[in-house]
Amino acid sequence: MARKIKVLYVSAECSPYSGAGGLGEVAGALPGAIAEQDIDIRRIVPLHRETTQKLRFRSNFPVKMGDRYQTCLVKYDFEEKEVPTYFVGNDYYFNRDGIYKQYDDGERFLFFCKAVVGFLEDTSFKPDIIHINDWHAGMIPMLLKSSGLNFKTVNTIHNLIYNGWIGAEYLQDENLPMEYLTRIDYPNLLNFMKAGIIYSDVITTVSSTFAGEMQDEGKGFGMEELLREKGGVIGILNGVDAEKYNPVSDSEIYANYSHKNAAAKKENKKSLQREFGLDESDVPIISAVTRLEDQKGIDILIESIETFRGECQFVILGSGRKVYEDKLLSLCSKHPGRIAVRIGYSLEAAKKIYAGSDIYVMPSLYEPGGMGQLIAMRYGTVPVVRGTGGLRDTVEDFEVNRKKGTGFLFERYSHLDLNGALEKAVGLYNTPEWSQIVGNCMKHDVSWKKAGKKYADLYREIV
Ligand code: GLC
Repeated sequence: MARKIKVLYVSAECSPYSGAGGLGEVAGALPGAIAEQDIDIRRIVPLHRETTQKLRFRSNFPVKMGDRYQTCLVKYDFEEKEVPTYFVGNDYYFNRDGIYKQYDDGERFLFFCKAVVGFLEDTSFKPDIIHINDWHAGMIPMLLKSSGLNFKTVNTIHNLIYNGWIGAEYLQDENLPMEYLTRIDYPNLLNFMKAGIIYSDVITTVSSTFAGEMQDEGKGFGMEELLREKGGVIGILNGVDAEKYNPVSDSEIYANYSHKNAAAKKENKKSLQREFGLDESDVPIISAVTRLEDQKGIDILIESIETFRGECQFVILGSGRKVYEDKLLSLCSKHPGRIAVRIGYSLEAAKKIYAGSDIYVMPSLYEPGGMGQLIAMRYGTVPVVRGTGGLRDTVEDFEVNRKKGTGFLFERYSHLDLNGALEKAVGLYNTPEWSQIVGNCMKHDVSWKKAGKKYADLYREIV
């Protein structure tokens, strides 16, 4: 039998240990699906303050940061058997509230990158492939090259808009050839995302459509050219954790149901209306569980809430830009009973919304993958999405005559087009066609299995 391929999977966040968004969900679930494909995959992530699991000490070593040293303390989770997970600990950098948006993120994640390289030098686990994710791990392939460590590297891009920067003085002791640094913007701030793109062997992203879009002029956040030079990007669609989001057994929703008794979904709807102060009537509830950021199309969503005349209710859960939060809260207080808004996030509230609403809206400006639409489908909540990135690849426009499709797509980034798609959805609510779409959604395969197989095939090809 062939030897098992070994992979070290590197992420800045990882559910259930830590999480701020989609990346954490992916890092929490995908490696398990890859392991099932007979790959020896292990994870390495920062030890954030929010990680409360019991961990064991493994090793420690110094990491040079500018003109001083910082200690890296490596711990591991001895309970987790499926995907062993290592944690890079350093109180100064990671024992903080929150994972990102700190003034010194560049320094924090350069420490992380250097620590991962130090770990590789220090351990008997010798992977064939280092699989990095997003800018936080972007310096690793370049540092590996300068350390003479010949690992193959795969870089999955989840979000191109965040780049990460650091002053060159932090890299001056790495004996990097000058041309390495000039390519990543020396003498100005060095760019992690660029480094990750230039020095990785293979670039992937989380949908085929986004893999194409990110190389198109004006859509790759300045990285188009570099990505094209790499000879292309591989798109592999994300899944979602089918057990965590399972209406049949989910103990956090109001009432369980399956595609065979989707009518029981109405129980959830009534309870959701009661809990969120909405009128108790059987009009479709349109929901969104989302970061309130420009990427997610919140400006056109707000315009739609203001102008859409169809009979419906809205429920929104999320946080982000203050202007969006304020605007949504003011709409909620103007139209109580029709619009409910909760600023913040909790998994329980999110699941109650997925289960209790009828239509899930995702009008993203751009969307590499997208998870909300997949989770919504799982709960029989019909997605209305803009045809961009992963949304285009996962939601099939409903065709009345062919009984095919799992939702409604619109193309132009405008609230008018969003309203048009909402109108179609609301118009079919409570008809036999509606039960058909809901059924199609709930039967749609959103598991990680396919993705696990594709990454495993990719690893095999590279090695
Ligand atoms: C980022 C992207 C999102 C994707 C997620 C996981 O958050 O914005 O589209 O689903 O990463 O890959």
